[in-house]
Formats: sequence, C-alpha cells, structure tokens
Amino acid sequence: MSSRRDVLRIFSLCAGVLAGLPRLLQAGKLALGLDKAEKLKKVGGSALLKIKERELLFVRESEDSIRVLDPTCTHKKCTVEYHAEAKALICPCHGSTYDLEGKVLKGPAEKPLKAFEAKLSDDKIIFSLD
Ligand code: FES
Repeated sequence: MSSRRDVLRIFSLCAGVLAGLPRLLQAGKLALGLDKAEKLKKVGGSALLKIKERELLFVRESEDSIRVLDPTCTHKKCTVEYHAEAKALICPCHGSTYDLEGKVLKGPAEKPLKAFEAKLSDDKIIFSLD
C-alpha cells in the first residue's frame, strides 16, 4: 500500500519537474515564427521588426542561421539596412558598414552594433535580448 503511494508521489514529482523543464530551458528566450516574417524564409532576406518595444533587424544568413541585431547605427543613430549582395549592414546616413556580427567594417562609426544570440529551430527563430 505504501509502495503504491510512493510510486504515485514519485510519478507526481517527475511530472512536475518535466512540466517545468521547457520553461527553465527557455528562460529569457523569445520565439518568433517564420510565418510572421515572410522575408526571413529565404536566405538573404531581412526584416525590421518591433519586438517588446524594441526595433530589431533580422537577417536570414543561411539555410540554418539567422542574425538578430539592434539596427541603430553607433555613429549618429540612423537605422542601418541589410545589403544582401554585400552581406553587410550599411548606414544610409554616412555610410558606416558593419558585418553580420555587428563589427564595424567601415566608419565613421567606431563601435559595433549590438548583436543578440539567435538560432533557427524548425520554423521558429529563438533569440535572446540579454
Ligand atoms: S549615423 Fe550611421 S554613419 Fe552616421
């Protein structure tokens, strides 16, 4: 009798831990379905999206990778644009150029763009704004 109760208690404990696991693994992560941004379904596509009151530039780098950056140029705060043919982010105001990691390739900007951790998982973009 007591062993049956123990088994139920253990089962209940395991179920509770398993139910909370995805939440723990996803702590601080955001998910965006590719269906929300058609342009990101193709390699070379990009989209400027507002997420959690923050403007973000998403760039589909390859079949299995995506970049998420703060598009605010570090020179004088214009919004950079993705140029697929150059695989670079270029500021329309004074020409600062950044690579897809946000590093400055050409000034006048001196500081990199803020880049966020991001990955593709099935048809979702999983990223963090930390
Ligand atoms: S604001 Fe971007 S280069 Fe000046």
